[in-house]
Amino acid sequence: MLKKEDNQLLTETNEDKPLGEVFRQYWIPALTSPEIEADGKPKRVKLLGEDLVAFRDSNGDVGLVDEACPHRGTSLYFGINDGCGLRCMYHGWKFDTEGNCVELPSEEETSNFKNSIKLKSYPTYEINNIIWTYMGPEEKQPPFPDFYWMHLPQENLMIERAWQECNYLQVIENDLDFVHAAFLHKAHGQQSVEEGALSTDLGIDPDHPLVKNPPVKQHVENTNYGKRCIAVGVGNEEENAFMEIHYIFPFYTYPPRFEGEDGMWHAFIPRDDHSTWAWDVQFSHDKPINKEVQHERRGLELDEDFKKLRNMDNEYEQEYQLKKDANMTGIRGIANQDHAATETMGTIVDRSNEHLGTSDKPVIQMRKILMRQVKEHMNGNELLKHDNQTLKDLYSGGLYDDKHKGWEEALPLNPKYKIK
Ligand code: FES
Ligand SMILES: [Fe+2]
Repeated sequence: MLKKEDNQLLTETNEDKPLGEVFRQYWIPALTSPEIEADGKPKRVKLLGEDLVAFRDSNGDVGLVDEACPHRGTSLYFGINDGCGLRCMYHGWKFDTEGNCVELPSEEETSNFKNSIKLKSYPTYEINNIIWTYMGPEEKQPPFPDFYWMHLPQENLMIERAWQECNYLQVIENDLDFVHAAFLHKAHGQQSVEEGALSTDLGIDPDHPLVKNPPVKQHVENTNYGKRCIAVGVGNEEENAFMEIHYIFPFYTYPPRFEGEDGMWHAFIPRDDHSTWAWDVQFSHDKPINKEVQHERRGLELDEDFKKLRNMDNEYEQEYQLKKDANMTGIRGIANQDHAATETMGTIVDRSNEHLGTSDKPVIQMRKILMRQVKEHMNGNELLKHDNQTLKDLYSGGLYDDKHKGWEEALPLNPKYKIK
């Protein structure tokens, strides 16, 4: 349970809010590379409550700028992108990717006025077909994070971004929740799962340790990147299944996976306080990933704004008979099931009404570090800094081991992730 004011503190991320300032000190995935072409149509991207426009100039450089023209506010989404800049359709002011005003044709040629005009723009960095941005103060800009999957060949990755119709905190909490899989994602009957994939679109095979029994026994430990959450599940007669989730402060996660399965990385970026950009990278460690299978099992069909075709308005195309025949939700697609669970709470759930139990340990611990970091920031102290030596080898591994072993022995934390 959270007091109403604490719930506000942890869910509000606009520019003038403490958590908004915290989030702006970390790198954010903003859009995928193919969404913008050189001299092509700009793309609207709302991030942390800010209306922004992305465009790729004639040289291929990316600009991420305020949507409102600094002259009188016309939308630059309707601007003309050519000749190395984005020109406002109203009076022709033109801006480069850094927000400099390079032409101001509504003034005398001799005027210096344009030198005083600056369009808000954020730095970008493009890697693995994702364009990232940093929206915080220049002096606080951290090194670009070096996540493990960024070192894999492009064909080993499947990248999806989707508009989720609720606050980011609900989405992260869902990702750290081991137990939900045993209900929300468990298929009633045996599933024929393709190599590497965790599930079919109907759910996870009932014999998979993630869902076989709700792994109620959990442990959460502090690490130099955030939190590691561990659960012990039922494996076979002699062995237990040891699973982990990494929460990398403030909005990145690695959900649980076992050897032989493709990995998964997430980032949950507030679009505004009532919606989230849910980023999903499925990665195969050693071969091209089967995108078709992964896409189908996740089940996200999106429109050009990345909104789901299966959504609250059409009840996620729930088929009541499927609840009896296939899974608890009656909804196809693992990702749709997650979206349904989190969006039906309301866009910002009132946490003063909740009743958390022992299975919610990771959620409680994640909130604690979030709260602690926000308070540190409000007191003028530095935030948690990531070290690329830490990030570059980190992903979730799960394994089977002797059921008499404790998790500390079966799945110990690599000493390099300990807090010094
Ligand atoms: S409003 Fe954009 S140039 Fe005038
Ligand atoms: Fe889930």
